[in-house]
Parts: sequence; structure tokens; C-alpha cells
Amino acid sequence: MMNRAQISSLAEHAAARPWAPDALPWESAVDWAAVSIPEGASVLARSDVVRAMSTSERARLRQREMASHLAALANGERKAVNLAAETVLLCPEEEVEQRWFLGTLLADESKHDLALHRFLSEKLAWTVRPHPVLDALFATLTEERDYELNLLAGQVVLEGAAASLLNGLLLGVDQPLLRELLRNIGRDEARHIRFAHAVSAPLAEMSPARRRRMEEVLFEAAHAAVVSLVPDDAWEELGLDRGLARAASVDALRERGVLAFFTKVLARELGGRGFPADDLRASLERHLEARLRQAA
Ligand SMILES: [Fe+2]
Ligand SMILES: [Fe+2]
Repeated sequence: MMNRAQISSLAEHAAARPWAPDALPWESAVDWAAVSIPEGASVLARSDVVRAMSTSERARLRQREMASHLAALANGERKAVNLAAETVLLCPEEEVEQRWFLGTLLADESKHDLALHRFLSEKLAWTVRPHPVLDALFATLTEERDYELNLLAGQVVLEGAAASLLNGLLLGVDQPLLRELLRNIGRDEARHIRFAHAVSAPLAEMSPARRRRMEEVLFEAAHAAVVSLVPDDAWEELGLDRGLARAASVDALRERGVLAFFTKVLARELGGRGFPADDLRASLERHLEARLRQAA
């Protein structure tokens, strides 16, 4: 059941406690060579390839991976602004609390986009290309024009992946500006995820064709979300074998429970909305990992 009071209180919370990107310590210099990033922050840290590297090679790899993750996050936030704007327009007119919250969500995503892109352009030593797989997913969501699908793919699947990435980065980053930036974004995203949990529209009456299409798009969303956690470009630049690196990072993501998140959490969310999730869960369990292991 939809919880209007809970959604109002989330919107009030967002409106009452905004953070200002300009108030972050932008004047502080970021010395990437001195940034301390523990082995645990690297998805490749435990692979044989990386174990054979020297200490300084490993440090450089972790920094380059971090750059790749930040660029992926910044790209995702830019896409999230557009998706949030489309979601506001798709929200039923009578759902005033949801529209209010979505207004705050749109403002949050714009801040995340601006602040992360400012960090990349002012403080990052590398130019990093974003993952094309996310572009394709967002184009599909724009075409589908489906409020519930936007919430499920955007707020449950992609935000889930972003939250996992943010937590991993926060554990690893020992730099005041970036730490503060990521902490603020993380707090906003946690609120967005609570909103997605509180909203529940009846999905039971949809046609079988519509249900199949939603399952396809949600599978693609889960795939894109995990791919965006894999920093292929970092390894290529450092001359590592792409196939080995990809296999090692899928192992790491599975060990950390990231793959199980998509099968379990997504199925639970769908179930709570009256959407029979068994087919999607089975197809994620059967095909997601294999698809990730294929060369991109
Ligand atoms: Fe965001
Ligand atoms: Fe968000």
C-alpha cells in the first residue's frame, strides 16, 4: 500500500536539509599519489594479475580504478537528471506527495551531476570514457514512458548499484573534499531508495506483453548497473588483459553480494508491487553472470 504520510515526510526532510555544493572544501588540493586507497576498494585487488604487481604499480591501478568509478558515477548522475525530469512528467497528477518528492529528487540529481563533474574537471588527472551500456538503457527508458518502470529501473536497480559503489569508494577514500561530496550524495540516494520502497502502484492488471517487456528492461537495467561497476578502461590503459580482468572483477562482485542484490532485492520489490517476479529472478540467476563474463 502506498504510504502518503511517509512520502510527505521524506519530501519535507529533503526540502528542510539541503546541502550546498559550493560549501564543500573545493580549495583543498587533491594529490592523487598521496590518496590512500586500501586494497579492498579495488575490484581487482585479489586477482593473481594484481598480486604479481609491485606496490607502486598496485597503487597506480587503484587510483586509476577510482578515477574510472568516479567518472561512471558522474555519468550516471547526469543521466539520472534527465530520467528524474521524465519521471516527474509521468507521475499521476493526483499523487501530489509523490510529485513533491520527485521535485526534490530532480534537484538532488542535478546537484550530484554538477558537483561530480566539477570534481572530475578540476581535480582528476585522467580523462575517462563513460560506459555506453548505460546510454542504451536510458534511451530505452525514455522510449518506454512508464512511471513504475522508471522508479524500478532508476531508483531500485541503478540507485542500488550506485549506493554499493558509493559505499565502496567511501571506505577507500581518504581525501576530505571527495569524502564530503560522496557522503552528501550517499545521504540523498538513501532517501531516494526509501521513496522507491514507499511507493507502490498496483501492477497486477498489466497485460502479459507489458509484463514481459518490463522484465526485459529490468534485466537490461541490472546488467547495465553491474557493468558500470566494472572499470574495463582502467585495465586497458594499464596494459592488463581485458578478459582476465573482467573475470576477476565479476568474481569479486559476486563475492561481495552485488549480484545477489539484484536477484533478491529486485524480486522482493516487484513482489511487493504485485508483480510476479519469479521469471525475472530465474533469468537473472541463470543469465546475468554469464552475460557479464562475456567480453564487452
Ligand atoms: Fe544521484
Ligand atoms: Fe538518486
